[in-house]
Amino acid sequence: MERTLSIIKPDGVGRGLIGEVVKRLEANNIKIIAMKMLHLTKAQAQGFYAVHKERPFFSSLTDFMTSGPVVVMVLEGEGVIAKYRELMGATNYKEAAEGTIRRDFATDIEKNVVHGSDSPESADFEINYYFNSFEIIG
Ligand code: RTP
Ligand code: MG
Repeated sequence: MERTLSIIKPDGVGRGLIGEVVKRLEANNIKIIAMKMLHLTKAQAQGFYAVHKERPFFSSLTDFMTSGPVVVMVLEGEGVIAKYRELMGATNYKEAAEGTIRRDFATDIEKNVVHGSDSPESADFEINYYFNSFEIIG
């Protein structure tokens, strides 16, 4: 059984989209096995997005991710990494397929409502970044 990390980003939380995202997960039979709300520090956001530290958008992205609270979740299911990324849609909401979270709610390439791990290796790193074993209902 595969696991992935989901984040409802500060734009999603601020605009009242927690319920909408959770509703779509549940409607697609994706099981939530951990969940909490956090307000990341700059250092915590930089650590989380360390793979992007050389990118031109790194500073803006880590400012955005610390601009308000986020909801972090661990999701579980067969093929859940790809399945959840399909529900999210492309990074750029203008290229995202119809009916995806980003297509329906994102306002900007950066303010795209949700995050999802992109591989088993990144899922492992990202889940352990936010949760200890006692916080995951497995
Ligand atoms: P995420 O990691 O948040 O799930 O998004 P992703 O895999 O679809 O996209 P990624 O390439 O990992 O980029 C991480 C986040 O950085 C912001 N971004 N801004 N200004 C830009 O060109 C740009 N490109 C990416 C987005 O918030 C993106 O989700
Ligand atoms: Mg990514």
